[in-house]
Amino acid sequence: MARERLITGEAQLEDEGAPSLRPDSLTEYIGQLEVVRPLHIALEAARQRAEPLEHVLLHGPPGLGKTTLAHIIRRHMDVNIVAASGPALKRAGDLMGLLTNLKQGDVFFIDEIHRLDPAIEEYLYPAMEDFVVDFVVDRGASARMLNFKLRRFTLVGATTMAGLLTAPLRDRFGLVYRLNYYSPEDLRAVVLRSARLLEIGIGEDAASEIARRARGTPRVANRLLRRVRDYAQVEADGEITHAVVDAALRLEGIDEAGLDALDRALLRTIIDVYQGGPVGIEALAATLNETQSTLVEVVEPYLLQIGFLARTPGGRKATLAAYQHLHVPPGTAPGQPSLGL
Ligand code: ADE
Repeated sequence: MARERLITGEAQLEDEGAPSLRPDSLTEYIGQLEVVRPLHIALEAARQRAEPLEHVLLHGPPGLGKTTLAHIIRRHMDVNIVAASGPALKRAGDLMGLLTNLKQGDVFFIDEIHRLDPAIEEYLYPAMEDFVVDFVVDRGASARMLNFKLRRFTLVGATTMAGLLTAPLRDRFGLVYRLNYYSPEDLRAVVLRSARLLEIGIGEDAASEIARRARGTPRVANRLLRRVRDYAQVEADGEITHAVVDAALRLEGIDEAGLDALDRALLRTIIDVYQGGPVGIEALAATLNETQSTLVEVVEPYLLQIGFLARTPGGRKATLAAYQHLHVPPGTAPGQPSLGL
């Protein structure tokens, strides 16, 4: 595969090395007030009653802090966290092992919960609702049903695609929060906070520029900050100015709107190969040699958010704003946006 995308919201190895950038509490957590305020109340109420928190579903695009929130919940409740991921939970036995080892109030975090195998998901229903699991051991005549009682735990599920959750699973979450892309102001605050923690000197306007190009995503902002720091160190005596940010991000192929090569390739494919669209996601994925899920879950959400891409019943279309951003004059073929000239 080509090198990893710099601006993907997906977790990359480098992020693991810097856990200190993650806020430990809601007080330190910047932005997402529509989530932070109600979550704080739910946490405090449960803590005061010495009860486990209800199950929590966190949904929204990658890189906005779902895992961070799961860890904040664990800290606030002063319990352990056990982390799993939907695609990795392949065997019922693995799930049983994790569930039966949970202590009272523990957080059981399942990332990408929409990718759970339906057969595994079935075991979660009684576990979430009644804190029991029924497990069939052996086969044929000697098959027996074992019934385990679990301690009351809190399931925290994270997903980029809440719409893909089955209704029975979704209905078992008492608290459902949607994370949205961060405003440039909030992202700038994240960049300045990270710079302080990493002891990077940076001006307000340079921080604003990183924030502006970070696609509303703190994880991307923090990654861009590291790349800019490297560039400044090697090419500019360590000083991070607006011009240094611009040069460093240009070198990384990130443009003024924060788009990278794959974003631009997606838009160019729609424009050049499919006359601006509409085009189906299967055709796009095949032409770009990418998986549909990467396009749908990682690449498209931000392009939709900033209005460069439209989803229509017939498929994806590039908008006039996309043509203008890529400096492509809108053509006259049917379906292509016209400037009305
Ligand atoms: N780092 C990443 N996300 C953050 C957030 N929401 N608040 C503070 N620091 C962060």
